[in-house]
Amino acid sequence: MSSRPTTRAVLIERHVPPEAFVERDVPLADPGPGEVHLRVAAAGVNFADLMMRAGLYGTVPPRPHSPGFEVAGEVVAVGPGVDGWRPGERAVAGLRYGGYAHDVVIPAERLLRYPEVLSPAEAAAMPVVFLTAWVCLFEAARARPEETVLVLGAGGGVGTAAVQLAVGRGLRVVGTAGEERKRRFVTEELGADACFDSRAEWESSVRASVGERGIDVALDPVGGKATAACRRLLAPLGRLVFYGLSDAVPGRRRSLPRAALAWLRTPRFHPLSLVERNIGVLGVHLLHLGSREPLLRPALEAIFQAAAAGELRPVVDRTFPLSRDGAVAAHAYIHARRNLGKVVLCAPEA
Ligand SMILES: NC(=O)c1ccc[n+]([C@@H]2O[C@H](COP(=O)([O-])OP(=O)(O)OC[C@H]3O[C@@H](n4cnc5c(N)ncnc54)[C@H](OP(=O)(O)O)[C@@H]3O)[C@@H](O)[C@H]2O)c1
Repeated sequence: MSSRPTTRAVLIERHVPPEAFVERDVPLADPGPGEVHLRVAAAGVNFADLMMRAGLYGTVPPRPHSPGFEVAGEVVAVGPGVDGWRPGERAVAGLRYGGYAHDVVIPAERLLRYPEVLSPAEAAAMPVVFLTAWVCLFEAARARPEETVLVLGAGGGVGTAAVQLAVGRGLRVVGTAGEERKRRFVTEELGADACFDSRAEWESSVRASVGERGIDVALDPVGGKATAACRRLLAPLGRLVFYGLSDAVPGRRRSLPRAALAWLRTPRFHPLSLVERNIGVLGVHLLHLGSREPLLRPALEAIFQAAAAGELRPVVDRTFPLSRDGAVAAHAYIHARRNLGKVVLCAPEA
């Protein structure tokens, strides 16, 4: 009897703390027309994976399923009709889910080559955070050189990407972060003008730093009271880009009351209140940008080119094994708000 091919995957079975991750062999299909089999060397971990695990993420497949929006690895086999990819080539890919696995079979059009100078872990750390930051800054807010941008969570994945992109375009950047080592990194290594303690009252410090006029752009992935502070800080013609609700996931366990509180205390905006103050509010959800794929791919290519030229850098804080225990430790680390930049799961040979 021939055994069907499988791969090892880390799965969400129940919406509970990180320890409830399980690891199983799951079926692996041969690549069909237009598909590629990629052996995963590294899988980026995103805050949205934590929300997915907690059952607080909208776009999810039925359980059990594996989280993971981005992987880097090596092409093992290509399906019929695939041109331009050969076994043995290195590639990075964005997924809707399923990246916490040792193999994925995905459409070839999702693959991108990445620069030689990057390790698989560094490549897997870039797509989601840099694309999100890019879309927030340059597509949604249309940020221009010499404007002032406030980046909440500046020491995190999207945050470290946003600070680099903004500084690179000649914007003035102020940020918030929860630890001294993050704040120092954001100012001394990434070039932000100032970075304030996200766990303390930071609104008055930002105001004192940027002046009474306020900020032109605020990138807000937190929600709740932070959103209200961002709104107060906006200068005339300022834009608030809302792209996450971290406030809904304060700890390792799912708390529906806490999630509801975060939702309730996030301000609602009456259009007239925007008119009164000449401000705008925008939302960004990368996964819901499917119809703008032609915009995202060139942006990601430009981001990787800039990384090859040393103009942008993936900030990989820690890697953990691509296994159930590794995923547990990675999620616990991010829940504890300790990550400076990205956390990545790596296969043993990567
Ligand atoms: N809309 C989109 O398309 C999109 C795409 C990617 C990410 N996002 C969102 O962007 C945010 C950042 O994502 P990321 O993957 O780059 O994560 P991350 O920033 O690397 O990690 C989370 C960071 O957020 C800060 N934070 C603030 N409140 C928190 C809370 N209640 N619990 C935990 N951390 C909290 C912490 O920084 P400090 O302690 O230093 O303040 C923490 O280090 C998340 O809200 C995520 O859902 C949205």
